[in-house]
Amino acid sequence: MRIVTSVRRMQHLARRWRREGKPSALVPTMGYLHGGHISLVKQARRKIGRKGRVVVSIYVNPTQFGPGEDFARYPRDLARDTKRCRAAGVDVLFVPKDREMYPNSTDEAFSTFVIEERLSRRMEGASRPTHFKGVTTVVAKLFNIVRPDIAVFGAKDFQQAAVIQRMVRDLNFLVKIVLAPIVREADGLALSSRNKYLSPDERRQAIVLRQAIQLAQKKAAASRTLVAASRLRGEVIRFIQRQPAARVDYVEFFDPNSLEPAPQVGRGVRMALAVFVGKTRLIDNAQL
Ligand code: PAJ
Repeated sequence: MRIVTSVRRMQHLARRWRREGKPSALVPTMGYLHGGHISLVKQARRKIGRKGRVVVSIYVNPTQFGPGEDFARYPRDLARDTKRCRAAGVDVLFVPKDREMYPNSTDEAFSTFVIEERLSRRMEGASRPTHFKGVTTVVAKLFNIVRPDIAVFGAKDFQQAAVIQRMVRDLNFLVKIVLAPIVREADGLALSSRNKYLSPDERRQAIVLRQAIQLAQKKAAASRTLVAASRLRGEVIRFIQRQPAARVDYVEFFDPNSLEPAPQVGRGVRMALAVFVGKTRLIDNAQL
């Protein structure tokens, strides 16, 4: 496995693969890799084949964190990430430096951004207004640097994958987006680098996100008619608030393609939620 830290070097490699006719797959991450990330790597390898190249990028992207968010204390462990990538059969670990990704950002000379204006407005975008602007910008940069044939994203961040898919379509990126399923702990908590922030007591309460989804799934399945989203939301929120450390940010029911809110909940509707457990903000989602 090769570790590349220079943008030019990565672009050079990508150009060579293209000349040699070797397809490539990219898995963009912010590191502190867990089983969810590794499942994306496996998916990338399955899709691109043994002769293709699998690139994992690790970059804690400052532009997608809002003021007061956890950018400075976001967990980082490059030694461990390197081992995990090597074990998972990654070909290139791309770890760009801030000064190359956002040169001159201190004197505000970096001034071009990619903004998706529709799917990124609700849910995560409503709670974190500058978040998706940072995500689309850095992912567009990564696509231009690596020029992958496919890129794998996790359903854990369902809205993010939808926003990226829209960006690819709207701006004619030549990359196929693959959506990989959510990987969970045995008790149902979705794997996340941020789970590290949870105290043992908060960790126990954090399963309430998964349980809230299951509650909604049960209610939707039990009802012979459609359930009003507003009523179901109320029930779900009351259920979550029974955990003393939990504070609901949002609970939404929506169409998985348009991300438009669904007034009635039935088959095909997707649910997403964000909940603070203590000071840690967790997200989850599922099809109902
Ligand atoms: P990060 O949070 O590190 O996630 C990287 C990828 O792993 C994302 O596609 C995410 O959906 C996926 N992922 C995380 N936890 C998962 C789980 N439990 N199961 C399945 N997939 C999971 O998302 C980002 O980084 C950044 O926004 C990024 C796209 C890299 C841009 O900076």
